[in-house]
Amino acid sequence: MGLLRNIQLAIIRPACRMAFDGRYLQGRWFEGRDTGWKWAWRSLWQQKFGGQNRSVPWPVSTQTKITAPERLEFHPDDLNNFQSFGQYYNNNNGGWIRIGRGSYIGPNVGIITSNHTLYDLDEHDPPQDVTIGESCWIGMNAVILPGVTLGPHTVVAAGSVVGRSYPKGHVVLVGNPARVSVKLERHPDLQTEGVDASQPAAD
Ligand SMILES: CC(C)(COP(=O)(O)OP(=O)(O)OC[C@H]1O[C@@H](n2cnc3c(N)ncnc32)[C@H](O)[C@@H]1OP(=O)(O)O)[C@@H](O)C(=O)NCCC(=O)NCCS
Repeated sequence: MGLLRNIQLAIIRPACRMAFDGRYLQGRWFEGRDTGWKWAWRSLWQQKFGGQNRSVPWPVSTQTKITAPERLEFHPDDLNNFQSFGQYYNNNNGGWIRIGRGSYIGPNVGIITSNHTLYDLDEHDPPQDVTIGESCWIGMNAVILPGVTLGPHTVVAAGSVVGRSYPKGHVVLVGNPARVSVKLERHPDLQTEGVDASQPAAD
C-alpha cells in the first residue's frame, strides 16, 4: 500500500504543481494527509480540462463559482472552503473578497462586491470590498452584500442576509436583514491574530 501510494503521489504532485499555483498546495491539507492532493487531482481534470473555474489557480469544486480569483484572498489552510457546493464569489466588477484565516464558508453562500445600478441595470455601482475576519462561520445560504466587514469570530446564521458591517466581531448575526442575536465571549483558542483584545464587543 505504501509503495503504491508513493508512486501515485510521485505522479500527482508534479502534475498538480503544473496546473495550480504552488502557494495553494501547502498547509494543513497537504502536510501529513493526502486530502489536498485528492482535491487537486480531481480539480486538475475538472478545472483545467473541463473548463470550470479554469483561471482559478487553486483547486475548486465544479459546483462553486469564483469570478475574479486575483482579488480573492484567503489562507491555504482554508482550501476546504472551496470544495463545497453552490458558493458564489462575485467580484468580477471589481473589489476584493478577503477571508480571514480559520473561517468556514458554508454551502450556497453568496459574497458580492457590487450591485447593479438601480436605474441602469446594464451598469454596476462602484465595487466595495467584502472582508470576513478570522475564525468566522458563514452558515449555508447566507448572503454577504457589498462593503460588508465582519470582525473576528462572527457567526452568520443560515439564510441570513448581511448588508451592514460588524467590524468588532464576536457576535452571532441572524435574519434578513441580519442583526446581532448573541454576543460571543472571547475564546483564547481562536485564531484572531492581531486583534486588540481590549476592544469592546460589537454593539
Ligand atoms: C446561528 C446558529 C449557529 C445558532 O444556533 P443556536 O445557538 O443553537 O441558536 P438557537 O437555535 O438557540 O436560536 C437562537 C435564536 O436565533 C434564531 N435563529 C437561529 N438560527 C436562525 C436562522 N438561521 N435564521 C433566523 N433565525 C435564526 C432562533 O429562531 C432563535 O430565536 P428566538 O430566540 O427568538 O427563539 C444556527 O441557527 C445556524 O444558523 N447554523 C448554521 C448551520 C449551517 O449553515 N451549517 C452549514 C455547514 S457549514
